[in-house]
Amino acid sequence: MELKNDRYLRALLKQPTDVTPVWMMRQAGRYLPEYRATRGVAGDFMSLCKNAELACEVTLQPLRRYELDAAILFSDILTIPDAMGLGLYFETGEGPKFERPVCSESAVDALPIPDPEDELGYVMNAVRTIRRELKGSVPLIGFSGSPWTLATYMVEGGSSKAFTKIKKLAFAQPKVLHKLLDKLADAVVLYLNAQIKAGAQSVMIFDTWGGVLSPRDYKLFSLQYMEKIVNGLIREHDGRKVPVTLFTKNGGMWLESIAATGCDAVGLDWTIDIADAKARVGDKVALQGNMDPSMLYAPAARIEEEVAHILAGFGEGSGHVFNLGHGIHLDVPPENAGVFVDAVHRLSKAYHKR
Ligand code: CP3
Repeated sequence: MELKNDRYLRALLKQPTDVTPVWMMRQAGRYLPEYRATRGVAGDFMSLCKNAELACEVTLQPLRRYELDAAILFSDILTIPDAMGLGLYFETGEGPKFERPVCSESAVDALPIPDPEDELGYVMNAVRTIRRELKGSVPLIGFSGSPWTLATYMVEGGSSKAFTKIKKLAFAQPKVLHKLLDKLADAVVLYLNAQIKAGAQSVMIFDTWGGVLSPRDYKLFSLQYMEKIVNGLIREHDGRKVPVTLFTKNGGMWLESIAATGCDAVGLDWTIDIADAKARVGDKVALQGNMDPSMLYAPAARIEEEVAHILAGFGEGSGHVFNLGHGIHLDVPPENAGVFVDAVHRLSKAYHKR
């Protein structure tokens, strides 16, 4: 089926567009009352992810409210470790946790690489259902966590502030961590390629915690494995390029190295000026970002001013996908997200004249 709106895919490949495309990290979520209602029907978050019809419903909810240029699969990065048998659960207010964290070399050796159409078949079913229901309106983004980011949750047993367990493993038993990261990279390649075959038209890798490493260790423990994934991905499917975006939160120092992996686009958080990012790597890759998600608490005029500033920073031409620099906060007024999306489309026209 012909894509009616392919701005997002075109911008990732630096092809001309009429306006700058926009979507929001975590656009389906608790800031929307209709999401909370559907989650209530499902019971809990993982049951929602495992029900293709309901996962499809919450994927589409933000698209009904806002003129977003892409949908993102409703799922989580922790599906892979869950499918490896770690026992993912969510404790209210405390984020994700694992019943059986990875804490020894034998535990790493025992981890299976999940079959994406078996243990993770529910994700592929969600992808197929969403593609069917999108009816070619906008492209669907598939995603995964980076090996390093997944490993932080698997070794720490959940979210962390200081990352002492994973860093102890990194520096005291580096070979064991490399074995884990290598296994995760293989699992992510299989998982993302299965998402692409099921219908994801672009994929994004979330490296939420790469920024807690030193520059040298970032390359060694995070970037190297993302590069391995980029090299293993299906880059063309159904007659169309499948762009890949890498996002390392707090990775602004390392843009040149990230761009050199062969990815199509680099996601930016808000701690870097997009004009600087463009000057550094804009000839190599497209850029995605990068408004501070907390700006959505501001009055409409302030949100619009910030959007205008970021658009001016990127300047003329294609190669920019507008986004927040990280996930939308759960207590943001939904109408402010609408102000943001509309401002991107309205104010970006001037940068795409030809
Ligand atoms: O963007 C989207 O709309 C797609 C869905 C999506 C979710 N998680 C849904 C979700 C995506 C892309 C993710 C990725 C994800 N998950 C990341 C990487 C991006 C980032 O935010 O840095 C990370 C680190 C996770 C791990 C994770 N899962 C966390 C930290 C949490 C939040 C826990 C909490 O209580 O807030 C989750 C749960 C989660 N994933 C929710 C959603 C909508 C909230 C679950 C709920 O209570 O309904």
